[in-house]
Amino acid sequence: MSFSSRIFLIHLVGYLFLHTVICNGDQDTFPKRAVVNARDAVPAEYVAKPYYPTPNGGWIPDWQTSYAKASAVVRNMTLAEKVNLTTGTGYFMGPCVGNTGSALRFGIPNLCLQDSALGVDLTDGNTAFPAGITTGATWDKSLMYQRGAAIGAEDRGKGVNINLGPTIGPIGRKPRAGRIWESFGADPVLQAMAASQHIQGLQAQGVIATAKHLIGNEQEQSRGGPFETPLSANIDDRTLHELYLWPFAEAIRAGAGAVMTSYNMVNGSAAHANSYLINGILKDELGFQGFVMCDWLSQDSGVATALAGLDMAMPGDTEPIPLLGLSYWASELSTSILNGSVPLTRLNDMVTRIVAAWYQLGQDSGFPLPNFSSWTNDTTGPLYPGALLSPIGVVNQHVNVQADHANISREIARDSITLLKNTNNTLPLSKNVSLSVFGTDQAKNPNGINSCSSRACDEGTLGMGWGSGTANYPYMDDPITAIRSIVGGAVSYNSDTFPSGITAAGDDVAIVFINADSGEGSNTVENNPGDRTASNLYAWHNGDTLVKDAAAAFSTVIVVAHTVGPILLENWIDLPSVKAVLLAHLPGQEAGSSLTDILFGDYSPSGHLPYSIPKAESDYPTSVGLKTTLIGQVQDTFSEGLYIDYRYLNKNGTAPRYPFGFGLSYTTFAFSNASITPVTPLTFTPPARASKGTTPSYSTAIPPASEVAYPANLTRIWRYLYPYLDDPYSISATGTYPYPEGYSTKPQPDPPAGGGLGGNDALWDVMYTVSATITNTGKTAGKAVAQLYLQYPTSTAYDTPIIQLRDFEKTDTLSPGASQTVRLSLTRKDVSVWNVVSQNWIVPEVNGAYAAWIGESSGELGLVCWTDGRGCLQNQTSPVVT
Ligand SMILES: *[C@@H]1O[C@H](CO)[C@@H](O)[C@H](O)[C@H]1NC(C)=O
Ligand SMILES: *[C@@H]1O[C@H](CO)[C@@H](O)[C@H](O)[C@H]1NC(C)=O
Ligand SMILES: *[C@@H]1O[C@H](CO)[C@@H](O)[C@H](O)[C@H]1NC(C)=O
Ligand SMILES: *[C@@H]1O[C@H](CO)[C@@H](O)[C@H](O)[C@H]1NC(C)=O
Ligand SMILES: *[C@@H]1O[C@H](CO)[C@@H](O)[C@H](O)[C@H]1NC(C)=O
Ligand SMILES: *[C@@H]1O[C@H](CO)[C@@H](O)[C@H](O)[C@H]1NC(C)=O
Ligand SMILES: *[C@@H]1O[C@H](CO)[C@@H](O)[C@H](O)[C@H]1NC(C)=O
Ligand SMILES: *[C@@H]1O[C@H](CO)[C@@H](O)[C@H](O)[C@H]1NC(C)=O
Ligand SMILES: *[C@@H]1O[C@H](CO)[C@@H](O)[C@H](O)[C@H]1NC(C)=O
Ligand SMILES: *[C@@H]1O[C@H](CO)[C@@H](O)[C@H](O)[C@H]1NC(C)=O
Repeated sequence: MSFSSRIFLIHLVGYLFLHTVICNGDQDTFPKRAVVNARDAVPAEYVAKPYYPTPNGGWIPDWQTSYAKASAVVRNMTLAEKVNLTTGTGYFMGPCVGNTGSALRFGIPNLCLQDSALGVDLTDGNTAFPAGITTGATWDKSLMYQRGAAIGAEDRGKGVNINLGPTIGPIGRKPRAGRIWESFGADPVLQAMAASQHIQGLQAQGVIATAKHLIGNEQEQSRGGPFETPLSANIDDRTLHELYLWPFAEAIRAGAGAVMTSYNMVNGSAAHANSYLINGILKDELGFQGFVMCDWLSQDSGVATALAGLDMAMPGDTEPIPLLGLSYWASELSTSILNGSVPLTRLNDMVTRIVAAWYQLGQDSGFPLPNFSSWTNDTTGPLYPGALLSPIGVVNQHVNVQADHANISREIARDSITLLKNTNNTLPLSKNVSLSVFGTDQAKNPNGINSCSSRACDEGTLGMGWGSGTANYPYMDDPITAIRSIVGGAVSYNSDTFPSGITAAGDDVAIVFINADSGEGSNTVENNPGDRTASNLYAWHNGDTLVKDAAAAFSTVIVVAHTVGPILLENWIDLPSVKAVLLAHLPGQEAGSSLTDILFGDYSPSGHLPYSIPKAESDYPTSVGLKTTLIGQVQDTFSEGLYIDYRYLNKNGTAPRYPFGFGLSYTTFAFSNASITPVTPLTFTPPARASKGTTPSYSTAIPPASEVAYPANLTRIWRYLYPYLDDPYSISATGTYPYPEGYSTKPQPDPPAGGGLGGNDALWDVMYTVSATITNTGKTAGKAVAQLYLQYPTSTAYDTPIIQLRDFEKTDTLSPGASQTVRLSLTRKDVSVWNVVSQNWIVPEVNGAYAAWIGESSGELGLVCWTDGRGCLQNQTSPVVT
C-alpha cells in the first residue's frame, strides 16, 4: 500500500478534491480512468482471457469445518452485514491501515488489516524484525518459521486480524526494483519455502497472513497513481507457473488466509480485476479458499471487480484518492445486489470466504480488538481521523508486544551475514585489534531512528528499506556501539568522506560501512523513486570511493554492506587491501551485536546470497531493466521467460562475481556420501486430481431493500463508508448490465492441475529423496547450507534452465570434525514442467536422467546424484560457469 504516513498531505488533497469535484454520490459520474480492460499496445500475444464465474470457496477438506461455521452465520446475515465485511470503512476511518465494517450480531468486529511483512507498522512497543531478504539469506527454515511466529504474536498482541505479509512478489526479477528486500530472494523455491514457513508460523498465532502481491509487481515506477495508468506485466503461461506463481502456490498450500493483488496490470487487465488470474488461476487451479483483497486504493470499478473474483475492497475508497466518502463497493455493492448486476451468489461467496478465514484462524474466540492507532502516537485522539469531526477516545494503549523477539531478530540478523571474501583469514578479528571505523552507516540516524516517516531516507545504519513494508524501530543497536563495547578504543569517523591526513600502521584495521537503499514508489529518496534509478546498483553516498580511499591508506580493510539487493563490488573487490567483505543485508533493529558476533568470531558466518552478484549490470538480460514512459502505458514484457538471476547468467555462460547461494564460513565443509532413493515412480502426468467437495448453498433471492436502508437512529460519520442507502426502495433489478465478454454463471470445468490447496495434491508427492553427509573439516564450529539444484535431462524438448534450486537444508552448528546427514527431497512438481497445451504439470522425460546437484552454492556443486540408477558421484565439476 502507499501513502501510509502521509496523512496530512492526503487530508489536504482529499479536501481540495472535495471542493473541486461535483459529487452527487453517483459513482458513475466520478472521473475515473477507464483502465479495467485497457488493451492499448499490450503485445498481441498476451491476452487476459475471461474466466467466469468465481468458483465458490469451501470445497477443500482442510477448510470444510470453517466453511460450515461460516455458512451458518452468513445464511443469517442481512445484506448490510454482508456488504460490511467486504468493504473497508475508508482510509483513516479506524485504527488500522485497513478496517472492514462489522457484523456484531455474530461477534464479528471491524477486522483490522495492518502492515507490515517485518513487524507491526505505525505503532510503538513493537519489534523491527530483519527484512525478508535478510531472512532469505539465512537459508534456515526454522528461523523463517520462528520469525513468522514472532511477527504473528506481535500482531495478535496489538489486535491485528490480518497481517499484510509476507511479500513474495516482487521476486527480484529486476535487481533495481524498489521492494525486492521485502521478499526472500530471487528464486521461486527459496521464496516459496520461506513463505510457507513464515505463514505457518504467523498463522499459528491466529493471525491471517496475506500473500502479496499477485502478480508481476516487479518494479515500483509506473505502478499507477492519480495521473498514471499502471504498467502491464505481460507474462506467458509457463513462466507464470514455473516462476512467479510458484511461491503463491506454496503460500496457499501452507494455508494462507488472504491474498493481495498487485497495482500493476497483467496482460493488460488490472490484477485486481483480472478474472483469469483470480477466478481461474488463484481460486480454481490453486484452490485458494481464503479471500482476495486489492492493494490500497487500486480498486477501479465495482461490479467488474466483484465478478472477477475480488472479495474485499481496501481500504474501501475509490482510487486513487481517499477521503471523499466514495466507494465502488459499500453502498454501491448494496445497489449492485438490489439491481441484480452482481449475483447474490458472488456476494455470499465473498463473505463466506472472509468469515471462513476468520474461523479457520480461530479468531472467533479470544482475539483482542486493536489497541493502537496507526494515525497518532497520542494516547487519546480521533477514532476516525478521516472524518473532520470525529468522536475522541483512547486510541493507543501502548501495549508492549516485544516479548523476547529481540533474540530471534538478532539470530536471524547474525545467521544472514554473508561472508563474501576473507583473504588469509583476516576475519575473525582479535578483540585487541587497532580499529578505525568509517562510513555513516556505522551509527544510527543522528536525527532520530524514526525521524523519516516510512523510513524514507538513507541516514545512518540501514536496517530496512522504505515504504509500507517497514515498522518503527524501538531502538537501533548500531554497529559502532556494539564494536566499541568490545574494542573500546575503536576510532569512529562518522562520515562518508574519507578524512584527510589519516596514517595507518601496518596492523591497523579499517572497517568501512556502506549501504544501498530502495523502497516503495510512494516516496523518492535521493532521486530514487522507490526503484534504484539514481544509485544504479552501486553503494549510496559514494561508498565505493570511501572503500577505495580506505584501501589506499590501510593495508587491511573490511567492508560491511547493508543492502536491499545486489550491489556491484567491482570498483574495489580485487584491491589487495580489501581483505574481507560481509554482506549484512537489512538487519532491522539488531544491526550491532549480530555483526560483532561475526566480526570477533563468537559465531562463524553462515549466511548465503539470496541472489547472484554479477560483475556488471549488463550481465543481466536487458528485459529486466526498469521501464517508464511519458505517455500511454508501460508494457513490461517478461521476455526473458524463466531466465532471471542465476538462471540467466548460467545460460549465458557468464561467470558472476559471487553466485546465487554463495557464502563463506570461518571453517570448511566437505560434502560426501550422497545417495538417492526413488520414492514414487514417475509418470508423465500426475494422478487425476481430486474432485471438488461441496460448497455452501444459499438462497439466491434478492434480499429486501429494507436491509440496506440507513437505520433511522444512526449518527453518520462524515465520509465513513457504510453499506446503507438513503432510498434503497427505488432500486429494481430490471435493467441489464453490460457484462464483460466471456461472462458466464455456469461453472467452468475443473482445471486438471487443481484439486488441493496450491494445486493437485499429487504435485507434492516425493519422487526422490537425496541425502548427503556434511563434515566440518576446519578448525572452528559453523553451520553449512546444503543446496539441491536440479538439472533436467539434457535430451528434454523443453527449454529449461541448466540448474534450478529445488530444496535446501541448513545444518546445526557442527564442531570441528563433526558430521550431519541432511535429507533433501524432490517432489513431482520439482521434476515437472508446465505444459501450456494440457494446462498441467508433466514430467518431460519419465525415464530421463535428471541430475540432482548438491553443494554449498549454485556455483560449487561437487556432488551429483542421477535419477536413472547411476547413483551418485563426488568431486564433480559444477555444470555452470563460475
Ligand atoms: C497472458 O498471456 C499469455 C499469452 O497469451 C497467456 O499464456 C497467459 O495465460 C496470460 N496470463 C494471464 C494471467 O492472463
Ligand atoms: C440463524 O438463524 C436461525 C433462525 O433464527 C437460528 O436458529 C440459528 O441459530 C442462527 N444461526 C446462527 C449461526 O446465527
Ligand atoms: C456495519 O459496520 C459498521 C461499523 O463499521 C457498524 O456501525 C454497523 O452497525 C454495521 N452494520 C451492520 C448491519 O451490522
Ligand atoms: C447496478 O448498480 C451498480 C452500482 O451502482 C452500477 O454500477 C450498475 O451499473 C447497476 N446496474 C444496472 C443494470 O443499472
Ligand atoms: C489490547 O491489548 C491488550 C493486551 O494484549 C488486550 O488485553 C486487549 O484486549 C486489547 N484490546 C483492547 C481494545 O483493549
Ligand atoms: C509516531 O512515532 C513514530 C516513531 O517515533 C514516528 O516515526 C511517527 O512519525 C509518529 N507518528 C505520528 C503520526 O506522529
Ligand atoms: C597471505 O598470507 C601469506 C603468509 O603470511 C602471505 O605470504 C600472502 O602474501 C598473504 N596473501 C595476501 C593476499 O595477503
Ligand atoms: C550473453 O549476454 C550478452 C550480453 O551480455 C549477449 O550479447 C549474448 O547474446 C548473450 N549470450 C547468450 C548465449 O545468451
Ligand atoms: C437503533 O435502532 C435499532 C432498531 O430499533 C436498535 O436495535 C439499536 O439498538 C438502535 N441503536 C442505537 C445506537 O440507538
Ligand atoms: C575428492 O577429492 C579430494 C581432494 O581432491 C580427495 O582427497 C578425495 O579422495 C576425492 N574423493 C573421491 C571420491 O574421488
